Amino acid sequence: MATRREILTGGLKIGAAVALSQIGIAPDLLAQAPAQPDEMTRNSAPQRAVFPQPDFGPAPKTLPKEALAVAGKASLKAHAARTGLISGAAVIVRSLSSDPALAELIVDQSAILVPEGELKWRALRPAQDKFDFTQPDALFDFASKHHLLVRGHTLAWHNSVPDWLTAAPKSLDVRKLFVEHIRTVMGRYRGRVQSWDVVNEAILPKDGMPGGLRKSFWYERVGADYVDLAYRTAREADPKAKLTYNDYGVEYDNAEDEERRRAILELLRGMQARKVPLDAVGIQSHIKAASPSTIGKGLADYIEAIRAMGLEVYLTELDVNEDDIVPNAVAERDRIVAQTYKDFLDVALASPAVKLVLTWGISDRRTWLNDGPTHHRKQPNRPQRSLLFDPEYRPAPAFFAMRDSFDARKVKG
Ligand code: XIL
Repeated sequence: MATRREILTGGLKIGAAVALSQIGIAPDLLAQAPAQPDEMTRNSAPQRAVFPQPDFGPAPKTLPKEALAVAGKASLKAHAARTGLISGAAVIVRSLSSDPALAELIVDQSAILVPEGELKWRALRPAQDKFDFTQPDALFDFASKHHLLVRGHTLAWHNSVPDWLTAAPKSLDVRKLFVEHIRTVMGRYRGRVQSWDVVNEAILPKDGMPGGLRKSFWYERVGADYVDLAYRTAREADPKAKLTYNDYGVEYDNAEDEERRRAILELLRGMQARKVPLDAVGIQSHIKAASPSTIGKGLADYIEAIRAMGLEVYLTELDVNEDDIVPNAVAERDRIVAQTYKDFLDVALASPAVKLVLTWGISDRRTWLNDGPTHHRKQPNRPQRSLLFDPEYRPAPAFFAMRDSFDARKVKG
C-alpha cells in the first residue's frame, strides 16, 4: 500500500513540474529533491515532498532604482574585492536568458557563478552513452562574455544519480563510468573553472561506515576509495582548477555538527596523508534563522584546522532558512535574516583562509528553500525571504548586512 508521503509526492510531482517549467526550471532539477526528509524534518507532521512554487507574478522587466543604486562601486563584488574576497551566486542557467533583469542583477553583483544543478549527473547524463552540455555551455558563454569566474558543482553527489544508473545491472563497471565522467566533464571546461566541487556531501556518520563516510551509490558501486579516485582523476583532467571538497552541517556549535566536522577533517587528513590532490574545502553555509544553536567556536576552529592544512576555505552555498521565525511580518523577518547573515559572516570571514563567498541564488523569486522540505519543515503559505534581493529585485536588509560584514573584515585584499 502506498504511504501518505508517496501519495502526496506522486500527485505533487506532476503539478510542480508544470509550474517549474513555466518559470524555466527543468523538471529534472526537481527530480533531485531527496525522496526522504532529512534528520531535521523527521519530527514534524506528514510532509509534502514538494510545495508548488510561490507565484510572485511576472518578473520585473528592468531593474528597480534600488538595485541600480547598489551596482558598480556599491556592489557586493566591489566591496568583497577590497577585502580579498571573490563573491558571487548560484544560478539556474535558463533564467539568464529568460529573465534579462535578473541576468543584469547577477552581473552587477557577482564575480563568480555556479550552476545550481546543470553540472550534476542527472542534468548532464540523460542516458549512459549521452552527455547534454547545452546548459553548462550557455553558462560558460555567459560568464566569458561578462568576464565572470565559474565554479564547477559537482562530479559526485549521492543525490543526483540518474535513474538509469541506479537501475543499471550489477555487471555495469561503475568505476570506469565514474572516471570517464570526471574526465569528460572536467576536460570539456579545462582551464575555465576557478574551482570544482569534485565530491559533495560524502560524510554521514550515522550510516556507520568507516571514517563516517556516507553509504552512497558511489561508495557502494565505485568502492570505499571513490573519493581519492575522484580527486586523482580530477587533477589530471584539469590541473588549473582548485579541487574542492564540499559539505554541509559544520556551521553550528552543537553535537551533530561537531561530529560531522571531526569526520570531515579526518577524511581531509587521510587524503593529504595519501597524497590525494586537494586545494580547498567548501562550507555550504545553509544556515537558519532562529536556530537554537549558536555559530562560533565550532566553525572558527574548523576553519582554522583547514587553514593549518594549507587549504583554502570557500563559503559555497550561503542562504538563510527563515522558516522557524515566529512573526510573519516581513520587516521583522528581514531584520532577523540580516542578523543571521552577519552572525555567520563575522565568524567565518575572520579567517584569512576564506577566499570565496557564494549565495545559493540571489533573489527570493527563486530559492531551493521554497521547493519543499529538503532541508527543514516548510511553511507553504510563507515564501522564504532567504536571499539578498527580494522578489522584485530590491536589495533586502541581508544585502546590506553582507556588505557591512565585508567592510568590517580585518583581512585586507
Ligand atoms: C539543490 C538545488 O538548489 C535544487 O534546485 C536541486 O533540485 C537540488 O539541489 N546542497 C548542494 C546543492 O550541494 O547541490 C543543492 O542544490 C542544495 C544543497
